[in-house]
Amino acid sequence: MPVLPKTAPFAEDQIAALNSVMAASTHDQRTWLAGFLAGFAAANDSTAAQPAAAVSPARRAPLTILFGTESGNAEALAAQARKAATKLGFAPKVLDMADIDMAQLAALENVLVIASTWGEGDPPQRAVDFQEALMADDAPRLEKLRYAVLALGDRAYAQFCEVGKRFDERFAALGATRVADRIDCDLDFEAPASAWIDSTLAVLKPTGEEDHAVIHVDFARTAAEGPTRAKPFAAEVTEHARLTGSRSSSDTHHIELNIEGSGIAYEPGDALGIVPTNDPALADEVLAAAGLAGNTALRVALIERLDITTLTSRQVEDFGKLTGFTPDPDWAMGRQIIDLLEAGASTLTADQLTSLLRPLPPRYYSIASSRKAVGEEAHLLVAALRYKSHGRARQGVASIDMTVRHRGSMNVFLRANQHFRLPSDPARPVIMVGPGTGVAPFRGFMQEREATGATGKNWLFFGHRNYMHDFLYQLEWQDWLANGTLNRMDVAFSRDQPEKRYVQDVMWEQRRDLAGWLRDGAALYVCGDMNAMAKDVHAVLLRILADQGNHDEADAKAELDAIRRDGRYLRDVY
Ligand SMILES: Cc1cc2nc3c(=O)[nH]c(=O)nc-3n(C[C@H](O)[C@H](O)[C@H](O)COP(=O)(O)OP(=O)(O)OC[C@H]3O[C@@H](n4cnc5c(N)ncnc54)[C@H](O)[C@@H]3O)c2cc1C
Ligand SMILES: Cc1cc2nc3c(=O)[nH]c(=O)nc-3n(C[C@H](O)[C@H](O)[C@H](O)COP(=O)(O)O)c2cc1C
Repeated sequence: MPVLPKTAPFAEDQIAALNSVMAASTHDQRTWLAGFLAGFAAANDSTAAQPAAAVSPARRAPLTILFGTESGNAEALAAQARKAATKLGFAPKVLDMADIDMAQLAALENVLVIASTWGEGDPPQRAVDFQEALMADDAPRLEKLRYAVLALGDRAYAQFCEVGKRFDERFAALGATRVADRIDCDLDFEAPASAWIDSTLAVLKPTGEEDHAVIHVDFARTAAEGPTRAKPFAAEVTEHARLTGSRSSSDTHHIELNIEGSGIAYEPGDALGIVPTNDPALADEVLAAAGLAGNTALRVALIERLDITTLTSRQVEDFGKLTGFTPDPDWAMGRQIIDLLEAGASTLTADQLTSLLRPLPPRYYSIASSRKAVGEEAHLLVAALRYKSHGRARQGVASIDMTVRHRGSMNVFLRANQHFRLPSDPARPVIMVGPGTGVAPFRGFMQEREATGATGKNWLFFGHRNYMHDFLYQLEWQDWLANGTLNRMDVAFSRDQPEKRYVQDVMWEQRRDLAGWLRDGAALYVCGDMNAMAKDVHAVLLRILADQGNHDEADAKAELDAIRRDGRYLRDVY
């Protein structure tokens, strides 16, 4: 373990104290500390992030930052890495995994791979082809390549950072040289990812160069670009209405926020990040179960800062080390922190409880409006989540906060999505598949297409449970149909007839026209539930293309892939 040298700018006893902390620390703790210190310096010390002197172009080492993203985190980190690499004297290039083939990959020298995991251990949609080619038996050797992998994920999922792990192993198996250990980032990835990017770039930097470049941490990056997750904007709620009927089995709300002065310049297709607060009643239950009732400072942290619902198997293990409570490895499934504390029936200290908990992550909501129609407002469509598991009634943190407990304002920031935008050509037809809250961005799309006088045709597929109770924004769609902004609308209400009927069934019924629109260059957008809907919609699209083109499954897949590569099959699924 490297220790601080005697020449470090600290007093002797401070050096000894720091060395003893370092010596006893784990890899994760050091990564966290590095990120924390880097962030602290950037946020508090105006001299901390001086740009480095320019490096002459002749000496610039090539660097490719290859990202695979679904919701933009990996892409944002790639952009951040590019800035840092430029300052360190690299000639960096950022590439989406969708835009590289294996021959190009094999020709690269220095590569930073930044990839997230989705579904159940799946790559982001646009990285599917890349994964397939990389894993194929005929994948080329990558002997020339020096690389390191930053994996994004969420510890609440069983397949934590699976895609990053898979890529890391496969690059090595194909003969590439791993220059730094992979980092597996949880939802609070900003600080550890920044620290990892800086330390990995330092290792990747070709030797023999003067070390004049200052390691650059880009914490202030977004400050000038509007509110962030760390510094959200308190947007006033100006309108709040329940859209589903009182007899509906779902509970979905329309919320309008005033974003004037926030600097949030969203485009239709973007989402808002919400920094929620936890249910105070649940915070009290957690405190009581840990034997910490009455600790008011901790109560505030549990409400505002810490994740007191999600339970990961790592937390069960950590709790076991503290208390001796060691249930089966999959005990965490469907359970929450409160179940763990009650089952373990042990008293914890405040420090033990806080170190057990993750930071409270933000939630994302598609923006259901266009600024061209609503000005400095952002509209959201939020389904309140309530369910039962292991005999206990549970509530979604953010959706209940927003629809039930909201206090007149919400803390928000922009989550731009460059990959879910209306066609730049206003004459291009658009097909929108948005059951449930998946319809939200399409309200923004229609407002935008109407406000800009786009001439392309528009077709919406909407689905929910009951026509009477769940037809979200029904009057608006009908107005758009009447004034010709919306050309077609097909709906599927699953519970209105004995047989379940979903959007994919209606798409199949309309397959001739749907294939015709696609042949005419339409862009097809899918938004909403990833597991229950997007997979079925994808499967029906393949069936439709096979059926209408008279080809087999492989040809249909090639056709849909070509449409996707053409930027005309876009998904925002969650
Ligand atoms: C890009 C993007 C856009 C989105 N847009 C929208 C939108 O427009 N409108 C919208 O309403 N939502 C949208 N979402 C989803 C939204 O971000 C939240 O995930 C959702 O509101 C739930 O958050 P929550 O805090 O209320 O629930 P959480 O407290 O996060 O609870 C969710 C968790 O509860 C568990 N759970 C849920 N149901 C069950 C069940 N039946 N049985 C057992 N466990 C269960 C699961 O572990 C799940 O992960 C979007 C998500 C993304 C990523
Ligand atoms: C629907 C959904 C499924 C996810 N599945 C996984 C998973 O299986 N494993 C994992 O580690 N993370 C999973 N995640 C977490 C994402 O990887 C994480 O949010 C990441 O920061 C997203 O990065 P991106 O914006 O670059 O796609 C999932 C997130 C969502 C919303």
